[in-house]
Amino acid sequence: MKEEINVLIKEDEIVARVKELAEQINRDYEGKTLHLICILKGSVFFTCELAKYITVPVTIDFMSVSSYGNGMTSSGSITISQDLVMSLENREVLIGEDIVDSGRTLSYLAHMLEKRGPKSLRICTLLDKPACRASEVDVAYTGFEIDDLFVVGFGLDYAQKYRNLPYIGELKIKED
Ligand code: IMP
Ligand code: MG
Repeated sequence: MKEEINVLIKEDEIVARVKELAEQINRDYEGKTLHLICILKGSVFFTCELAKYITVPVTIDFMSVSSYGNGMTSSGSITISQDLVMSLENREVLIGEDIVDSGRTLSYLAHMLEKRGPKSLRICTLLDKPACRASEVDVAYTGFEIDDLFVVGFGLDYAQKYRNLPYIGELKIKED
């Protein structure tokens, strides 16, 4: 089997879009302190890039959730392997996510975090695959909508590989 990656969104396009999202967030959260939640491992690259251009005060916390096995299809079950360190009580919470696919991960997570008493809770995702939606999720900020493709790079992986690619590419697996 040969893995082939075709560039879908170039690095400069991603950075330009992330800057636009940050500008929108800066306007929406003016006068407030933003509490960013980074979902490990996929959203680290995106959330950190976004945080660089946010000008309101920011605090950041990490959480590890898994909904995928090693392959390209969802396992359907969500597990929290590492919880947040900080309380969400009274905070303006923004979840940074790499991709919303079926929506199961974020709908589960948003409901769970909502119970911890944040002042507000919103979702910001780099990519959205609306064609694959199975659970309803309210996404406040979206970088790019993409077709039903399996993508890697900028944090997204295939069997833990390719997270480090500076661009988003479509992964094709070919028989050799
Ligand atoms: P959901 O629960 O189906 O929305 O899945 C969300 C998670 O699945 C994301 O946070 C990713 O980790 C993973 N995922 C979904 N689509 C892709 C993809 O195209 N490439 C890599 N990971 C993906
Ligand atoms: Mg993920």
